[in-house]
Amino acid sequence: MRIGVLTGGGDCPGLNAVIRAAVRKGTKEYGHEFVGFRYGWKGPIEGITQPLDWDSVENILHQGGTILHSSRTNPYKIEGGVEAIKKNMAELGVDALIAIGGEDTLGVATKLTADGVNCVGVPKTIDNDLSGTDYTFGFDTAVNIATDAIDRLWTTAESHDRCLVVEVMGRHAGWMTLHAGVAGGANVVLIPEVAFDMDKVAAYVRERKEAGKSTVVAVSEGAHAEEGMVLKDGEVDAFGHVKLGGVGDWVAAQIKERAEIETRAIILGHLQRGGTPTAFDRVLATRLGLEAASAAEEGDFGKMMALRGTDIVRIPIHEGTDVLKTVPTERYAEAEIFFGN
Ligand code: F6P
Repeated sequence: MRIGVLTGGGDCPGLNAVIRAAVRKGTKEYGHEFVGFRYGWKGPIEGITQPLDWDSVENILHQGGTILHSSRTNPYKIEGGVEAIKKNMAELGVDALIAIGGEDTLGVATKLTADGVNCVGVPKTIDNDLSGTDYTFGFDTAVNIATDAIDRLWTTAESHDRCLVVEVMGRHAGWMTLHAGVAGGANVVLIPEVAFDMDKVAAYVRERKEAGKSTVVAVSEGAHAEEGMVLKDGEVDAFGHVKLGGVGDWVAAQIKERAEIETRAIILGHLQRGGTPTAFDRVLATRLGLEAASAAEEGDFGKMMALRGTDIVRIPIHEGTDVLKTVPTERYAEAEIFFGN
């Protein structure tokens, strides 16, 4: 069997570990051949490939990013996109695809499966917002980076008696902000799932200031105040997602004005996606890649590899993407105990 592998959407620490595991198991156990498609779905649409064999995945386990490169290309938004994928796969002798991605990439894999393309899905996202899997790889790394940032912000916040607002990635789900906020001891955590009251946030900061304490506020890029969403610009990607960012600056300005404390905003941005994956993410990504090779061998297409407890299982891809996994109110309530002074 000849298998094409692609990585789509935002990059994520652990992608290379999946690629390595799938290629190594597929080659060693089943005698599969592999071909890399570059730039997500753009690769099979335009026939952009790179060699992918036992040796080409040497020494990539610990590397962040993706050796296959990525893009947010949507074949269903490109005239003739799906036909081009089928044609290129046939010409290259590719029988099946292993698509490693988040809601958008796997959403395309679901549609392509229905359109007759053999797809196996591997979930990835630092946002941890895919359903059907306990965790996605990349999340642990991103949370550790954000937690380390908060630890560092504390010492400078305290030295200057300031309030520091740290904006954390996470488009629709506040998992990263919640976990980094709780792990880093943030005094307020704001997530997309719960509209926040700016007066209340300012009151928490003021109460700490009056007690002679500095404050760290963790805010998710997708969080919004009750009065509405703050956006830098209206730019939208091929999957219809508005580019986020800007809420951290807004919250900082509001705190400065309402709590009368010197406040700074720090946007972690792509720092959270870069660099080497944690051991947890490397192991999870490796296990998902191994299972994806087996699913392809067995012809078990239209399935997404998922973590359930300590097991790797296969579920229909759409179960991962139909409904995004957001933070439940009871998990947010755990963080709320620590708000304010
Ligand atoms: O989906 C992962 C993610 O990192 C989100 O947290 C963030 O909103 C988005 O990607 C940023 O995308 P880009 O790198 O295209 O700006």
